[in-house]
Amino acid sequence: MTQNIYDNKEFFDEYAKLERSIKGIEGYREWPLLREQLGNVSGHRILDLGTGCGYFCRVAVEKLHAKEVVGVDVSELMLNRARELTNTELQSKIHYQQMDLENAQFNNINGRSEKFDSVFSVFVCHYIKNLETLFTRVFECMNSGAVFLFTVEHPIYTSTRDLDPDWIPLPSSTGDSNKIIWPLSNYNDEGERVSNWLVNGVIKQHRTIATYVNTLIKVGFRIEFMDEWFSIKSDMGGDNGPKAGPKILVIKVSKPGNHA
Ligand SMILES: C[S@@+](CC[C@H](N)C(=O)[O-])C[C@H]1O[C@@H](n2cnc3c(N)ncnc32)[C@H](O)[C@@H]1O
Repeated sequence: MTQNIYDNKEFFDEYAKLERSIKGIEGYREWPLLREQLGNVSGHRILDLGTGCGYFCRVAVEKLHAKEVVGVDVSELMLNRARELTNTELQSKIHYQQMDLENAQFNNINGRSEKFDSVFSVFVCHYIKNLETLFTRVFECMNSGAVFLFTVEHPIYTSTRDLDPDWIPLPSSTGDSNKIIWPLSNYNDEGERVSNWLVNGVIKQHRTIATYVNTLIKVGFRIEFMDEWFSIKSDMGGDNGPKAGPKILVIKVSKPGNHA
């Protein structure tokens, strides 16, 4: 059973004010990378895990010419917003379904047993406790050759306990703003973390990069691509500035075999 923090009205209202929520997926700074890695999905049946307000579903149909997208999420508030934002013309191609990814099955959604040609997920898997089970269910619902592309908060963001992730001045520095460090502790101590993000007490799951990768390999996926994406906007110090550190872990895997 998940915390389902997105159905907390205070959290939901604060989340709606974020730049990402206002701009939608095409405004995400990492979108060009995700778009490139997704490849050609024209005619695909796609599953979007933790679809939120359904931004990806609509872009996938309208701009990337997917045949059909199923967007699943546990949050009723997020799905209601997704439905409001989906115009009538798109409704025959986009299906939103309330589902807890901790114990989800994807092989019979709406009575359809057809498998998926691509699976997509942005910033969701770090909320999932039973990740191996989720990856197994995803593997089972994919066609051979299909791609699963997902992102999570980089583990350096979820690792440290009792301190919200941020750069801090190097203790010995004397006011030189370039001398900053990222506090990192408890990295190998995987499991639940409670953070104060938008509201107090948001539960996420910390795991190492190795665990993400080894879990995918154990389930049977083939690793295709990884990136430790970081923003190059000027307030991060640019490409080689002091804050040029990883923000998002991007992983693309495929189900071995030829695409049907
Ligand atoms: C950061 S939002 C990302 C939404 C969307 N992928 C996007 O990029 O706009 C995380 C989403 O994951 C969903 N989520 C978290 N835990 C979940 C779970 N156990 N089952 C289904 N959805 C979950 C939340 O409800 C929320 O909509």
